[in-house]
Amino acid sequence: MSVIDEVKQRTDIVEVVSQYTTLTKAGRTFRALCPFHSEKHPSFFVYPEQQSWHCFGACNTGGDIFSFIMKKESIDFGDALRLLAQRAGVKIPSRFESEAGKDEKERLYQVNQAAAQYFQNLLLNSPSGEKAREYLAKRGLSQKTIIDFQLGFSPNSWNNLKQYLIERGYVQSELLTAGLVIEAKGEETHDRFRNKLMFPIFDIRGRITGFGARVLDDSLPKYLNSPQTLIFDKSGSLYGINLAQAAIKQQDLAVIVEGYMDVITAHQNGFNNVVASMGTSVTPKQVSALKKLTKNMALALDADAAGEEAMLRGVSYENTLDAEVMVIILPRGKDPDDIIKQDAKIWRHLLEESLPVVDYTFNMVISNLDLTTAKDKAVAADKLLPIIAEIKEPVRQAHYLQKLARLVKVSERSIEVALSRVKPSQGRPKTKESATLYPLLTNRLEEYCLALLLQHPELKQSYQGPSPEYFQNTENREIFITWQQVNDLPSLMEELDPAIRENLHSLIAKNLPSNQIEQKYANCALRLREEFLRSLEIKRGEVLALVAEAGGIDAELAKLQEQGIEVSIQLGEVFIQKARRGQHQRR
Ligand code: UTP
Ligand code: MN
Repeated sequence: MSVIDEVKQRTDIVEVVSQYTTLTKAGRTFRALCPFHSEKHPSFFVYPEQQSWHCFGACNTGGDIFSFIMKKESIDFGDALRLLAQRAGVKIPSRFESEAGKDEKERLYQVNQAAAQYFQNLLLNSPSGEKAREYLAKRGLSQKTIIDFQLGFSPNSWNNLKQYLIERGYVQSELLTAGLVIEAKGEETHDRFRNKLMFPIFDIRGRITGFGARVLDDSLPKYLNSPQTLIFDKSGSLYGINLAQAAIKQQDLAVIVEGYMDVITAHQNGFNNVVASMGTSVTPKQVSALKKLTKNMALALDADAAGEEAMLRGVSYENTLDAEVMVIILPRGKDPDDIIKQDAKIWRHLLEESLPVVDYTFNMVISNLDLTTAKDKAVAADKLLPIIAEIKEPVRQAHYLQKLARLVKVSERSIEVALSRVKPSQGRPKTKESATLYPLLTNRLEEYCLALLLQHPELKQSYQGPSPEYFQNTENREIFITWQQVNDLPSLMEELDPAIRENLHSLIAKNLPSNQIEQKYANCALRLREEFLRSLEIKRGEVLALVAEAGGIDAELAKLQEQGIEVSIQLGEVFIQKARRGQHQRR
């Protein structure tokens, strides 16, 4: 039995959850005030038979014991596993514990922390830090802000930091691996950061993974960052996440800006849910990291960048988050730092004016068109239909179809026909589905789906794939999500917790049929969706009965019923799709 299975077997979800919230028995379930959001009427339920939980209130989400702990403690799968294993007295094999590289990583965090302390001491106390202190004063940073963000100053010298760290027991090779020194032409090493303002970059757990460094004048390049290291990956980091996480959860919204100073000024002015993507456009990795805190995101972008983002990635992020992504449009030539410093009210106003990314795309596309002409109507449809086609959520997709139909004054029906032509699904080979797929237990279905996806990476592009939430097993969900973010199996291995790697090996080795892969994958995703919705429906049904029996409050009943309608609509849709597939198969 795998460690994961053993932990599951020895852990009772009721016991674990009751450490976080008071559970009351209600029929076959347990009921409680949701531990993830504040509420007056309990809408959080634990299902001992399925060993799962669900919140029918503001969260409207659920999962197994792993996802519960991950969410509650804001930790990743590996740490949740370790925590639960310890609790259940399951020994994690040592190869998982002192996994090669773990000590090395720990050492890198330490050396970074030591470097940050050195830089900060210079900034706060040394004569050489004077011009950096002046610079920060000129930019309006308070002493508290400087301390909160652990800002620092790197001296104008080739080896002061190196000497300092070596005196403290670190060795040259560690400094190199951490990216704090550079090897000059294969000989001596010297400090990487010289005469710069230092911004330590923290991960969500408050460990320093790397540094950003700014020149103190107008010279270029303006910023120098740590190189990619064992612990630093710029494209996956979010500057300020350590300080922003509580506010993001509390406000259920993350605001993403570009730069270090944007984050710092925002926080200094009380906008604490702000993090930075650090210059690049937001990456899937960053979105996944934020998703653990909230599904609501607002991107602060200038008009050009917003346009590009909207066209390229906006909807795919919405699909990942299962929520709308908002865009905050910045006035030309200004960044949030400038705006907030000028007047925090303007920033607040821009936040209020933010638009869902798809609406913004609509505005942008039609602003250059004359929609009374046939030609421009076609242009609008050409540009907007692929975006609408990408929207996974059926109600929102229908909404934008309608919007487009109204704009170009063409019947919704013809727009729908046009949409069906855009979808890559149409015109694919339609053949008989092998009967072997049914009936599989959900877990086997999940594994089958993952095996297909792992053995055929090209399926990652398929819009017909499942959403992460269809995976009821957190470990399968982890594999699915991580696989979307990496390019090859070695990187996947690297990213996943060692305990999950065991599962991975068997998935990669699984014997699969070799034909009609794409169709099998789509069918599998559809089945997963069905399972997901059915299980949700059952849980909701039980709860509804309970609430009604107890003479529940009207608003609560109405909400549950509304959720029920939503689930039924989605289930209906699954049946329609299944029927369509059936037809295709008969042809
Ligand atoms: P900006 O050039 O907009 O700088 O880059 P800024 O944040 O407004 O800086 P200030 O206000 O002049 O001090 C935005 C972000 O892009 C990354 C940094 O994270 C920066 O904050 N960047 C920019 C780099 O990593 N390297 C660069 O050379 C430039
Ligand atoms: Mn700036």
